[in-house]
Amino acid sequence: MKQEKIILTGDRPTGKLHIGHYVGSLRRRVELQNSGLYDKIFIFEADGQALTDNIDNPEKVRQNVIEVALDYLACGIDPAKSTIFIQSQIPELCELTFYFMDLVTVSRLQRNPTVKTEIQMRNFETSIPVGFFTYPISQAADITAFKATTVPVGEDQEPMLEQAREIVRRFNHIYGETLVEPNILLPENAACLRLPGTDGKAKMSKSLGNCIYLSDSADEVEKKVKSMYTDPNHIKVTDPGQIEGNTVFTYLDAFSKPEHFERYLPEYQSLDELKAHYQRGGLGDMKVKKLLAAIMQEELEPIRNRRKEFEKDIPAVCEMLRQGCEVAREAAAQTLSEVRRAMKINYFDDDSFVAEQTARFAAE
Ligand code: TRP
Repeated sequence: MKQEKIILTGDRPTGKLHIGHYVGSLRRRVELQNSGLYDKIFIFEADGQALTDNIDNPEKVRQNVIEVALDYLACGIDPAKSTIFIQSQIPELCELTFYFMDLVTVSRLQRNPTVKTEIQMRNFETSIPVGFFTYPISQAADITAFKATTVPVGEDQEPMLEQAREIVRRFNHIYGETLVEPNILLPENAACLRLPGTDGKAKMSKSLGNCIYLSDSADEVEKKVKSMYTDPNHIKVTDPGQIEGNTVFTYLDAFSKPEHFERYLPEYQSLDELKAHYQRGGLGDMKVKKLLAAIMQEELEPIRNRRKEFEKDIPAVCEMLRQGCEVAREAAAQTLSEVRRAMKINYFDDDSFVAEQTARFAAE
């Protein structure tokens, strides 16, 4: 049988999605969804994973499950083509995690670079919740339960994918070819790998207040772009400016297309020309910011409008999620039945266990 091409990816519902999510992954997901190259697409909200470091704030996760679903729909993820579901509603994922735990050592988890930095970020050093520590294992279950071949995520997820691949190899080596080794699919454009915050800090994060959200109004987007971090030494228009670490240019790298120049700044042929002028001196920040604002509004306006439409019928969004969970659960249940068979714990699937054990005792 030809191997199916299956996409799986997801987000933690801890906040509304921002343009970092958009250029780093959502935009690509929609393209992949519409490419027709994939047999199945699963997109899910990792609420269980979100709870691993928000255990005392279940309300936050509950609210954001709907916000994130709205962001998905607004970006063009289409429930007719992609199954959208919620992690906690698929108990098979817990079961698979439980079996996978025997295939991973504590020291291997400790070496996972993403876990390492996250532990530092959260000051968990002396009191790491076990569930948090082991979430790479549960993430491997998320991926393999759906036999995903392709996982489109940002580069911060690379260690998770590596760990998932190791688990699959170990499982298949011990129990026979059962699970599928997933491949990571990273953004093509370097600026999209990790979009900095509007203040120039490396990461967009809610707590730093440096995000542009997909649900932000046109005015908010305008304001945020206008106050963006640029080159602090570019004071007079005539001063030569720096492109590197200049947030406005990084965003242009992520958002601009050649046709935008014809439309908004016909005196430049391309982003390279604009950059060269900035570096030479003689190009003011405001002009560049105006261009960026125009481009971003063009891209974000349809998303914002679609989001408003979906917000009008929240019961329909909930029903879409419920149905997605049903479809996802069926897929995961199929894999789990294969996993149990491979692990020889499928005692009551058929009569073979009874027959084989009866024969064993009869022979004694
Ligand atoms: N860890 C991912 C994030 O923080 C979310 C996630 C959980 C995920 N399980 C996944 C992504 C499986 C891809 C595949 O964004």
